[in-house]
Amino acid sequence: MANPPKLFTPISLGPITLPNRIMVSPMCQYSACEGNASQWHLVHLGSLAISGAGLLCLEATGVEPEGRITPGCLGLYSDANEAALDTVLKTLRATCSIPLAIQLSHAGRKGSSSAPWEGGGLIGESRGGWLPLAPSPMPQKPGEAAPREMTIADIERVVSAFAAAARRAQRLGFDVIELHMAHGYLMHQFLSPLANRRSDAYGGSLENRMRFPLEVFERVFAAAGSSMAVGVRISATDWVEGGWDVAQSITLCQKLESMGCAFLDVSTAGVSDLQKIPVGPGYQVPFAEEIKREVSIPVISVGLITQPRQAEEIVSTGKADMVALARAMLNNPRWPWTAAAELGGTVIAPKQYWRCLPAGPGTIFGEIIYGQR
Ligand SMILES: Cc1cc2nc3c(=O)[nH]c(=O)nc-3n(C[C@H](O)[C@H](O)[C@H](O)COP(=O)(O)O)c2cc1C
Repeated sequence: MANPPKLFTPISLGPITLPNRIMVSPMCQYSACEGNASQWHLVHLGSLAISGAGLLCLEATGVEPEGRITPGCLGLYSDANEAALDTVLKTLRATCSIPLAIQLSHAGRKGSSSAPWEGGGLIGESRGGWLPLAPSPMPQKPGEAAPREMTIADIERVVSAFAAAARRAQRLGFDVIELHMAHGYLMHQFLSPLANRRSDAYGGSLENRMRFPLEVFERVFAAAGSSMAVGVRISATDWVEGGWDVAQSITLCQKLESMGCAFLDVSTAGVSDLQKIPVGPGYQVPFAEEIKREVSIPVISVGLITQPRQAEEIVSTGKADMVALARAMLNNPRWPWTAAAELGGTVIAPKQYWRCLPAGPGTIFGEIIYGQR
């Protein structure tokens, strides 16, 4: 029998083995109420959970109320947040076997924004927003109000909030935690010299700028316990001269690996309006490839990976170990079925849908084992 396509071979992220190398990338839905998952999450995640992907990652989830990007962002800082997510997870677990990840995040100076469909601008405190926190009192965009510079007490509180959210994620039964150190949010703000102008132990040298994200990783890793995988999404470059770059990313990734990081999810950008991004198919793959050469943990590539053969080429030539897809999965939540049919892979699909499977050399079938996980 011919070898299966690499995309449809299992991969282990720390203690968790995934059935294939396709991850549903985290996607904010701006549809929570006070951080609580809503009926929208049930529908949205329910659809993606039966996609046949190897891993479904929930959206950026704030570890404290001020850590949300928008007032509609998901949170995991309260008992109510945990109970709301428990309802969603129980439904997913009862109906499909896909491994589940949650992306834990703090928005920092990008917090208190409106949803994209409302323009995405800062919401002032008088309009129900909050004063965002940041390593330095520098606004994300010129003309915006400055965020509040974090004190050492703020830093300690946020590190503890990440650890507390990790404990909640573990109780909820997530398989994987992804820490959001990318896209210009708080941990990336500390890493990037463009957003971090501190003169204390958390700013200046690379070692100092990495201190806060590494403290978060250490505490989350300890809180998650040995049965979960803890990985990190980074922005490998700010795409701005003098900003965060791939050389600094490699130092960070090697340090994370030495601390037990299970995988690296390599994206780019988000910290500066001056960024010039050469957007095109697979435009971030070279960063994953460069980082993969310097570490031995799995590396995930993301960004305009839309075609099955493109995804297979990335993993089979060793440019990355996995691919994450966002928009293509919203557009076609059964993308992995299509890819399996085209490439000759095998993917699990619910029996209720077996009458609509796409034609091709692949095998798209399987059993849903209700309530087994
Ligand atoms: C609706 C939407 C919401 C997103 N929310 C998040 C998020 O919560 N966390 C994150 O790291 N990236 C987020 N992203 C970025 C995606 O995960 C992904 O990195 C990006 O869209 C590039 O992949 P794609 O070309 O496959 O869409 C979001 C993207 C979209 C389209």
